[in-house]
Amino acid sequence: MTPIVRRPWDIPQHRHTAESVYRRRELYRREFLKSLGRAAAISGGAAGLLSVLGCMPSPEEVDAAGAVVPLPEAQAALYPAPRDPRFEYGRPETDRHAAAAYTNFYEFTPEKDGYRHVGLFQPTPWSFEVTGLCAQPRTFDLDDVYRQFSLEERAYRHRCVETWAMCVPWTGFPLRKLLEIVEPLPVARYVEFVTAQRHAEMPHLARSRRYLWPYTEGLTLAEALNELTFVATGVYGAPLPKQHGAPIRIVIPWKYGYKSIKSIVAVRLTEEQPKTFWNTLIPHEYDFTANVDPQVPHPRWSQSREWMLGSGAVYPTVVYNGYGEYVGSLYA
Ligand code: MTE
Repeated sequence: MTPIVRRPWDIPQHRHTAESVYRRRELYRREFLKSLGRAAAISGGAAGLLSVLGCMPSPEEVDAAGAVVPLPEAQAALYPAPRDPRFEYGRPETDRHAAAAYTNFYEFTPEKDGYRHVGLFQPTPWSFEVTGLCAQPRTFDLDDVYRQFSLEERAYRHRCVETWAMCVPWTGFPLRKLLEIVEPLPVARYVEFVTAQRHAEMPHLARSRRYLWPYTEGLTLAEALNELTFVATGVYGAPLPKQHGAPIRIVIPWKYGYKSIKSIVAVRLTEEQPKTFWNTLIPHEYDFTANVDPQVPHPRWSQSREWMLGSGAVYPTVVYNGYGEYVGSLYA
């Protein structure tokens, strides 16, 4: 009897890749490749090119690795939330997978492929406290969040200090609504935010002792109360994937991306300006205010242009990331 030897390419019909899946992957691959040249040109030659090349996964790989822990049915049913018509990108929306494959989340990795390192992270159950100089300090869990705040979707531009940018639909609610509940005292002048610090789930914490964990950020109270400052629980019409800061993060679209702190466990009202992660580590490169400004170069690169994740399209950078109408008066 002749044994049947199956060669690697003898794949049964039912395991062939569907044409629609092939086409979507091919489109995504081409989009990613197009971004390489531009990324290299703007973000530091070979280093920029390699960092983009290093994370060109398939959409399926990105989805599987960064998958969120499913929410209870009633909470999941709140997605997608109605879009707030006041906000438009003015550019094409960034491909969901391109955004999810190129993230900054140093607790997990200093590279961009956070989706590969978040497997152990447990974003539910979750709670965060709001304390400090306020009349009604309290702790919120995810049930409180989904019950007390009505969700909306906002199409925001995001500009990283490293010159990459994206256009992303966040789901959430204005931070102002959270702060109104705790009633800030008149002496409160700043708001500090703190990210979770879980050594068993965040592999880079232990490997990076020179960093001053936990990751912290801060705003003036006026900035925190601004209409644009957003608490996000979701993105692209679904709950946040882990690498985007599940289950709850802050989004501040007129400031460089490092202000948009992820996976928060504490919000504190203070009188003094809080110490923040990057500003404490490298103050001459990362200032506390961090408003997007093309006229002020980073000490090592220009901030005059930005390149979009996914498409690689290049745009001139605009002061306050184009949100001057909302925030210009804060700095007048
Ligand atoms: N929050 C925490 N806790 N840790 C981080 O490393 N990176 C910041 C910000 N929030 C960061 C963080 C930076 S530098 C950017 S540009 C944005 O997250 C990126 O958000 P995204 O990865 O969801 O695109």
